[in-house]
Amino acid sequence: MTRIPRRLAAKIRVVCGVGSVYQGGMLPKHSGGGVRLTGLALIALGCGGGGHAPAPALPVAAKNALLTPRDFSAIADRDDRARAIFVEASRVMLHPRCKNCHPAGDSPAQGDHGRPHDPPVARGPEDTGVPALECTSCHQDRNAELARVPGAPNWHLAPIAMAWEGKTPGALCAQLKDRERNGDKSLREIVEHAASDELVAWGWAPGHDREPAPGTQAAFAALVDAWVNEGAACPKDEVKR
Ligand code: HEC
Ligand code: HEC
Repeated sequence: MTRIPRRLAAKIRVVCGVGSVYQGGMLPKHSGGGVRLTGLALIALGCGGGGHAPAPALPVAAKNALLTPRDFSAIADRDDRARAIFVEASRVMLHPRCKNCHPAGDSPAQGDHGRPHDPPVARGPEDTGVPALECTSCHQDRNAELARVPGAPNWHLAPIAMAWEGKTPGALCAQLKDRERNGDKSLREIVEHAASDELVAWGWAPGHDREPAPGTQAAFAALVDAWVNEGAACPKDEVKR
């Protein structure tokens, strides 16, 4: 067995397991040393040799693209596969186009850095604004390009139970599966919502100079569908994307 300096071994352990499938995939962004480390972990160590399959190296999607369910087929364990697929899907859900309308407070956010909605608006009792300042008094059924106002049918805020702002993929996943917090939807209904809801669709056609969510709505829905088909396990909470 190859001998590994203790300093390295400690780091290599981090490359095993689910979150690390991802961190492994992201290493090339950092130092060249990181890349070598991944190779070492996979080939020489087999992830600690504890009977675990080596963490396969996943391809890394471009910032504006999504991996497909097939990209995860190298992950042998079904739950691990579901977890990794969810983390990829969460790149969409935690994107500003979605997160701005799934805020943790009373006000939607705008732009790519979560600045508070200007003018100030409140969700009101039905998440549709307050009398005289309803969301739809400004937001139409479609984007109003000249006025910069984004639009889609029935524009309103996601209920507070569906707040995604500030969530890790793990917390988001648990919440999405919880019928008390997901609008009493079955997992199948979540897939359907992802595939065909018009407010979701807006995330890829946000108008003006707004950055769309990564991939396409169909590619996102395919990931959510695959996550459900693979048993819908949730990522460990420390996984961040
Ligand atoms: C007085 C008009 C007005 C009202 C009322 C209003 N909005 Fe807006 N909203 C805007 C304008 C204008 C923008 C675009 C700002 C920009 O991009 O410069 C915007 C942007 C947004 C965005 C940001 C999109 C993005 O990703 O950048 C969200 C989300 C949003 N509004 C949700 C809501 C919700 C939900 C309500 C009701 C609770 C609401 N708005 C009420 C005018 C309004
Ligand atoms: C204009 C506001 C708005 C935007 C933008 C928006 N959503 Fe939502 N979202 C809502 C509302 C309102 C609901 C509740 C609808 C319901 O229960 O039928 C919701 C519910 C959901 C749900 C159902 C389950 C749950 O627990 O949250 C999913 C999944 C979802 N949105 C995904 C997305 C994704 C993905 C995007 C971005 C591509 C997005 N949404 C963008 C307003 C928005």
